[in-house]
Amino acid sequence: MVRKTLIAGNWKMNELLSDGIALAKGVAEENKKATRKDCEILICPPFTLLMAIKKAIRGSKVMLGAQDCHFAEKGAHTGDISPEMLKDLGCQYVIVGHSERRTNHKESNALIAKKAEAAIRAGLKVIICIGETEAEKNAGKTIEVCRNQIMGSVPTASTAANTVIAYEPVWAIGTGRTPTASEVEEVHAAIRQIIASKLGRANANKMRVLYGGSMKPNNAKSLLSLADVDGGLIGGASLKVADFMAIAAASKQ
Ligand code: PGA
Repeated sequence: MVRKTLIAGNWKMNELLSDGIALAKGVAEENKKATRKDCEILICPPFTLLMAIKKAIRGSKVMLGAQDCHFAEKGAHTGDISPEMLKDLGCQYVIVGHSERRTNHKESNALIAKKAEAAIRAGLKVIICIGETEAEKNAGKTIEVCRNQIMGSVPTASTAANTVIAYEPVWAIGTGRTPTASEVEEVHAAIRQIIASKLGRANANKMRVLYGGSMKPNNAKSLLSLADVDGGLIGGASLKVADFMAIAAASKQ
């Protein structure tokens, strides 16, 4: 089953205008030089930079995404951004359910499912994030947590064409720690089974499941070469052109 590798940069709340433009231009330039044609590159800057980054990557194959959205199309939601607005701006993807939003903004599985459904309705692809905390891992609950999050936050409208799952152990995000390759492979295989039980075997076989959490140039190859790992969601290392593109270069052919 060939699934196109996706290397996605989650810039989080980083970069002001000029540095953000330089970073995006750097990624676009390096991507043009890359010999790989089978790897999708996505950058997800903060909302404030979307318009500028859209211009900065014009003419390249680098894709644009956002880090969150509201579920409503429009209306009285001060400070929120609708998926239709993101689509209008040229976004192709939106991340929903990142652990920082689940924690800092108390986002529930039900809310994340609503956001994902709304994003799909607007014609965006969604990257739905799941993953266990350290306490849950130590209690042997990793697969159970992933199952609950997939069952609760993946909408019925999800298919392999419009949805990507990102497995991000919360304890690995920004810490420099990662699970072992065999742990990642075990969880990813389990995630694919859970997707099959929710969305059917055909979708599960074709749906991309990314790994995220301290993916760096030095560990990318061992993580990205795993059979059920179809790319990465990269935070810290996506803020440096060389690191981000080295991760892309390490992904499987
Ligand atoms: P990190 O973040 O690569 O800095 O660990 C990943 C993420 O939170 O998406």
